[in-house]
Amino acid sequence: MRRSLIAANWKMNLTFDDALSFVSSFKEFKFDTKKIDVLIAPPFPYLSDLGKALKKINKKIILSAQNIHFESSGAYTGEVSAEMLKSIGINWTIIGHSERRQYFGDTDIIVNKKVKKALENGLNVILCVGEQLPEREAGIEKELVISQLGMALYGVESDNISRIVIAYEPVWAIGTGKTARSSDAEEMHRSIREYIRSKYGRKIANNVRIIYGGSVKPDNISDLMSMPNIDGALVGGASLKFESFAKIISY
Ligand code: G3H
Repeated sequence: MRRSLIAANWKMNLTFDDALSFVSSFKEFKFDTKKIDVLIAPPFPYLSDLGKALKKINKKIILSAQNIHFESSGAYTGEVSAEMLKSIGINWTIIGHSERRQYFGDTDIIVNKKVKKALENGLNVILCVGEQLPEREAGIEKELVISQLGMALYGVESDNISRIVIAYEPVWAIGTGKTARSSDAEEMHRSIREYIRSKYGRKIANNVRIIYGGSVKPDNISDLMSMPNIDGALVGGASLKFESFAKIISY
């Protein structure tokens, strides 16, 4: 059985005080830690302090970066490397989020370099893929997503796949209030799993977690999670308030 992963991607939101108070709300909150992993991806500057705050309340919440650079160090003003994250005890990063692809020039080749750099440094990766609206309207969404996945995983060995979670995020559903129908999301997740099976074999495909992102809210999470190939959610807007994120975790 695959463990569920419910992940909060705060993007460029919340002040440090908001972030601290969000995390301290977990003190009184219980969830089934045997079945569910909960992850928060805050802005970079908060990672260390949130780690300390979580340790204090003894909560097993995973902290993740939202991005890394593909080099280890050097003259890359404003960037953060996988090595830097490791050095402050962060073991996860999101890579290839559609906002990175759209606004910061993260091409499939760059996404692949970042995935490899993260894995090289022992990080776990939430690898995001997803089609834009015109691609869905043209009926080429599966080809597009599988091609993004193939490029992102180019040269990635099978023993590293257990450290990758694939996030399917149809771009037209991000921040728009339009969620993909759970049956459409399930169909895409099934195709993604099938692709992983063809490339890495059945056992790895059965174990890889594929999560859905795009306007996930307390009122659509259980429907999504009832699908056999949807193993969790990558939540943006609805993860910014503890109450709504808590409801999503308790789907
Ligand atoms: O990383 C999260 C996704 O981009 C989804 O964002 O829940 O605001 O649509 P959203």
